[in-house]
Amino acid sequence: MLRVVVCVSGGGTNLQAIIDGIHNGQIRNTEIVKVISNNASAYGLERAKQNGISTACVSPKSYQVRTEFYKAFLEIVDEAEPDLIVLAGFLVTIPAEMIQKYPNKIINIHPSLIPSFCGVGYYGLKVHEAALKRGVQYTGATVHIVDEGTDTGPILLQKPVEVKSGDTPEQLQKRVMEQAEWVILPQAINMIANGELDDRIKGE
Ligand code: GAR
Repeated sequence: MLRVVVCVSGGGTNLQAIIDGIHNGQIRNTEIVKVISNNASAYGLERAKQNGISTACVSPKSYQVRTEFYKAFLEIVDEAEPDLIVLAGFLVTIPAEMIQKYPNKIINIHPSLIPSFCGVGYYGLKVHEAALKRGVQYTGATVHIVDEGTDTGPILLQKPVEVKSGDTPEQLQKRVMEQAEWVILPQAINMIANGELDDRIKGE
């Protein structure tokens, strides 16, 4: 069984897609051992609790210095003994120490076709606002391995989504989630859990 820790900051719809995928058999040989949030009011924590999944909240606001927050965060992750860490709408920079400790074992879902609309400052609705402003006709989502840059790690899966005329950022975000994120994130986890992705990242 692939032991997965999922990190969330907000609504947790991607977490829900993973939970649903495990329940309906789309994701095999996988268990979510912990859901971690930096935000105590993240609805993602509620989704975890509703599904009997252990949760933890660790907020940078509770620490005077960033290094202390990172230490606490890493301790919680280590205790869960994960094979894979999934950033599912987690809006906190991952400490370099964690990336070094879990090489090729941290993946992220980003709501655009990387390398477009990614990097520092591109998260959540801002990504879709930028895509609409640029006038692209297709956007999408990307699952990638997390390295020490922002959205710079190796790409694992991508799925394009059409932009429709008159889209608001919210409408585009919803379509990207429904048609791409909630599809490729469960798919990537299933492939990792079953050794089907590639040599860069494999389940135990
Ligand atoms: C998702 O659209 C995810 O791709 C995005 O935040 C949203 C979280 O939604 N992540 C980023 O922008 C990371 N750079 P969710 O909490 O409902 O899964």
